[in-house]
Amino acid sequence: MARILTLRHDQTLFRDIDVFEPTHVPEQLHHRDAQIRELVFLISPALQGASPMNAILRGPPGTGKTTTVRQIFHELTRTTRDVIPVYVDCRQDRTPLAVYRTIFEGIFDYTLPSTGRHPDDIKENIVARLREHRAALIFCLDDADYLIVAGTYNLLLYQILRLYEKWDVRKPGIVAVTSDLALNLYAEADASVRSVFHPTEITFWPYTKPEIRDILSDRVRQGLYPGVVPAPILDRIARITAREQDIRVGIDLVRSAALRAEKDGRRKVRAGDVTAAARAVTAPALSARLAALSEGERTLLSWIAEQSRDGGDMTAVFEDAQDYIAVGKTTYHEYLNALAKAGLVDLMPRAGRGQTVRLRYDPDEVNKACVFPNDDRSCIFDDPGPD
Ligand SMILES: Nc1ncnc2c1ncn2[C@@H]1O[C@H](COP(=O)(O)OP(=O)(O)OP(=O)(O)O)[C@@H](O)[C@H]1O
Ligand SMILES: [Mg+2]
Repeated sequence: MARILTLRHDQTLFRDIDVFEPTHVPEQLHHRDAQIRELVFLISPALQGASPMNAILRGPPGTGKTTTVRQIFHELTRTTRDVIPVYVDCRQDRTPLAVYRTIFEGIFDYTLPSTGRHPDDIKENIVARLREHRAALIFCLDDADYLIVAGTYNLLLYQILRLYEKWDVRKPGIVAVTSDLALNLYAEADASVRSVFHPTEITFWPYTKPEIRDILSDRVRQGLYPGVVPAPILDRIARITAREQDIRVGIDLVRSAALRAEKDGRRKVRAGDVTAAARAVTAPALSARLAALSEGERTLLSWIAEQSRDGGDMTAVFEDAQDYIAVGKTTYHEYLNALAKAGLVDLMPRAGRGQTVRLRYDPDEVNKACVFPNDDRSCIFDDPGPD
């Protein structure tokens, strides 16, 4: 019996560990049908010889934006020559030269030597190929906010969107992506760009808990042998992931918890594996969120943590907070909004005074982390518990 429950040293729980890698492109993209339909609709004129429309994809980290684009681009490459899709990761490529090189390499499937080419030469090659195939270029600027920081966003959009004016090619389509919800990529474009840009915005909302469960359950099925993650354990992981609002946390948790079980020679993941994995996976998230706060914001967060220690939801009322943090009403609300923006609390309007505030993390751990903001060991926390 013991042999059935435990693993031999050469046995593994993983059917395919690669499906937990950040670079893995899932076979099936769950719960993004509406976004896929909309993006395909915007691109579709290019399949009929016309110019594609532009899109802005906006949603918090880990909501499937990049995966959606990659999947559609993959399908376009496989099925048509009327469209040439090119994916640009703006974290890597921030200058016009770097972006043109990536477009060139996407079109010609050939790596340019690292020096000695002028952006105009590269552009001419790109245009020649587009003309030759009578194809439309659709290109994705993923994490386009990096171009704004680099000061190249407007220049690039201007040059690419207006390629057709000088070169007699079909007008390219742009898919600009950002995870910064405060940023309006259309408003960031200057007037000369806006007159040819006209994007449709597609929103990627954070996944709900049942959606997270579906996505994780599929990944578990592909990556692990049957029965390794029992249903209540998957629920627990989905709960922690929903709190973090990033599906990557869930994928990482499944992998780390299964590795822990495997290391102990067990065939099943236990709650303790998830708790230990959550410390490693989510502690840095709390630390990072706290590190970005001002001292005043951190003081207000400590007060909220103390208030919420005895229960879940609580009400933050400006007057009540005065003994703890003596700031004006405007500053108080600015602090509260900053905490919500940092993903530390959820704010819900409430009839009468104040707002209902829900702390996303364990109050004791938040307090410890507020006192020792640079000490990762202070950020130990667990399952948020049932709803
Ligand atoms: N709907 C989904 N179905 C299956 N896997 C998904 C889904 N959404 C996201 N994933 C997985 O989650 C991970 C993160 O997704 P993705 O990179 O697309 O997020 P993102 O919105 O682009 O995040 P960021 O803003 O941080 O770049 C990927 O590994 C992807 O495989
Ligand atoms: Mg992305």
